[in-house]
Amino acid sequence: MKALVLAAGKGTRLKPLTNTIPKHLLPVADKPILFHVLDYIAEAGIKDIGIVVSPDSGPYIEEAIGTGSQWGGGVTFIVQPQPLGLAHAVKAAQGFLGESPFLMLLGDNLIQEGVKDFLAEFRASSSDARILLREVPDPRAFGVAELDSSGKVVHLVEKPRTPKSNLAIVGVYLFTPEIHKAIARITPSWRGELEITDAIQELLETGKEIRSHLLRGWWLDIASNDGLIEANHVVLDALLKPNVEGEVDAQSRIVGRVQIEEGTKVENSLLQGPLLIAANCVIRNSSIRPFTNIRAGTVVEDSSLERSVILEDCRISRINHLADSVIGRNTKLAGQGRTPEKIKLFIGDDCQVELE
Ligand code: TTP
Repeated sequence: MKALVLAAGKGTRLKPLTNTIPKHLLPVADKPILFHVLDYIAEAGIKDIGIVVSPDSGPYIEEAIGTGSQWGGGVTFIVQPQPLGLAHAVKAAQGFLGESPFLMLLGDNLIQEGVKDFLAEFRASSSDARILLREVPDPRAFGVAELDSSGKVVHLVEKPRTPKSNLAIVGVYLFTPEIHKAIARITPSWRGELEITDAIQELLETGKEIRSHLLRGWWLDIASNDGLIEANHVVLDALLKPNVEGEVDAQSRIVGRVQIEEGTKVENSLLQGPLLIAANCVIRNSSIRPFTNIRAGTVVEDSSLERSVILEDCRISRINHLADSVIGRNTKLAGQGRTPEKIKLFIGDDCQVELE
């Protein structure tokens, strides 16, 4: 069994951050999104992992992953020259996949339960594909699956106007090598992409059996600014363990689950968890409220922050009520200490913002 992670694509909806950081390296709970996905694979015991990257993002992703020793060591990078669809990415990886069955995951989808049970069910069955489904209130924005009474998949449709079920297709799949033959038979969709949904539908039409697994926990598809903030909220809430390694002075107060890494100093501030402050930060005369992640080397003074992600080496001073925001690396935010109802920002690396 091999694993294939799709991490090419443009990340247009997360610009300007993705101008300088590949989407898959943006953090969720202080860890790159892609590392969470690789953790699911390692937990399920798969050691032979291929990562599909784009020519632009490839060098950054390769540098971040290194030899991949953290996940068992066997990481191969595959360049997809253009993002021409998920099935096109599988085609690009055919040399790596060979005749092996494989687990395929979108590198920007996080799921609460990981993939262990999903994989065990596939191994115990004789089906040619297994897809992960999640009930959603409005399935019109997703690929949607119809099942028969025995749970067999009978039909798949991409973004239907009148969905026949509320079961959205999550970006995690299991395939036998039969999928390569199906991909060879499909043609690009109206949006010019080779769609994996079409390839799975092609498997169905040639009489192959496709089964599904219903996901009950959360599913986070990190496509947009709000998606990144929501993912940080959900994952900090679910996984954060209190652990204070930095220095917190006697004038400061910690409420709830708070993680503060080594070398960080907290002075005269209120920290209300769940929140995570990475190493070598300074938090002074400030209030940091729930679902916030401040990455290493950032200084926050005379400010209040809530439900925000602050990347490395920022300087934030006299900004009140910064909420639902993402701030790129090495950015300076300076205010006048006024108290607006809320400041919401989504800005990239190396910016300078002064609020009058
Ligand atoms: P998308 O979210 O469809 O595309 P994107 O990541 O480029 O974002 P945007 O639409 O904002 O530009 O992609 C889903 C995942 O699949 C993502 O992890 C990238 C990956 N992918 C590939 O690896 N190759 C591809 O050809 C495409 C379309 C996506």
